[in-house]
Amino acid sequence: MDIAVIGSNMVDLISYIDDLPKEGETLEAPDFKIGCGGKGANQAVAAAKMGSKVMMVTKVGDDLFADHTIQNLERYGIDTEFTSKVSGTSSGVAPIFVDRDSKNRILIIKGANQHLLPADVDRTADKLNKASLIVLQLEIPLQTIYRAIDFGCEHNIPVILNPAPASKDLNFDYVCKSEFFIPNESELEILTGMPVATEEQIKQAASTLINKGLKNVIVTMGSRGAMWITKEKNETVESQKVTAVDTTGAGDAFIGCFAHFLVKDGDVLQAMKKAAAFAGLSVTKRGTQSSYPTVMELEAFLMSRK
Ligand code: RIB
Repeated sequence: MDIAVIGSNMVDLISYIDDLPKEGETLEAPDFKIGCGGKGANQAVAAAKMGSKVMMVTKVGDDLFADHTIQNLERYGIDTEFTSKVSGTSSGVAPIFVDRDSKNRILIIKGANQHLLPADVDRTADKLNKASLIVLQLEIPLQTIYRAIDFGCEHNIPVILNPAPASKDLNFDYVCKSEFFIPNESELEILTGMPVATEEQIKQAASTLINKGLKNVIVTMGSRGAMWITKEKNETVESQKVTAVDTTGAGDAFIGCFAHFLVKDGDVLQAMKKAAAFAGLSVTKRGTQSSYPTVMELEAFLMSRK
């Protein structure tokens, strides 16, 4: 197995809106789309679509969404041996509002994702210890994240930690044991308390994380691309110009695709370039996982931009 994603799944309820209603107001919105989401599942699907063998450790509820979520993961060839149901609990859901500028606002109701516990990581040990990479986000309990990071250290498996949604409660003693820390700009701002309006500010904010002990920080910057900061260097990969219609899940697209190429080729900068293109393509379609390109679409896009 190439990649183990230990994380969330959600059902995305995406409303395409012109304006958010004011208190007491009812407004009509032009469109709606329901689909599979959740940062963990999105990253798993992105990596699987690129060809990685992926295992997903996650929990669904016992509602009408549960089987659909499991079937969706399996449709992409993802190993769901450790995807289980929690009785008496709803699946995670995410009401999402995408505005006319393609930007999104997301609410999450974690539901069953709250029940993914450290013991669930240990239960997977015989399979997890064969993974080449562990990928984590923050839509499950922090204690589970810490256990997964420790598991990675104990078995010499590198860990990617995507601190999304940002949590100020993150314990950097654990975080610093991860190989790659991949926030977006707003998560970086919340975690460091520093401004991130310019690339210079982003570099400075990320450098404070390097000074805390992190090895590799990659900041995803949307249409501006992504910046890789280490103690020794700082490299920026540009995004390709595209017409965005829905940016939901673009950060997850980047991380899943990056994880795939990191495991496959071990070249960080090349993996970032392909991930930026993959994420760029994803924003040209509506929906979350449903907007992720195929290998052929990604290759054709990369060729056309040479
Ligand atoms: O990053 C986008 C994702 O955040 C959505 O799919 C939503 O489910 C939330 O987890």
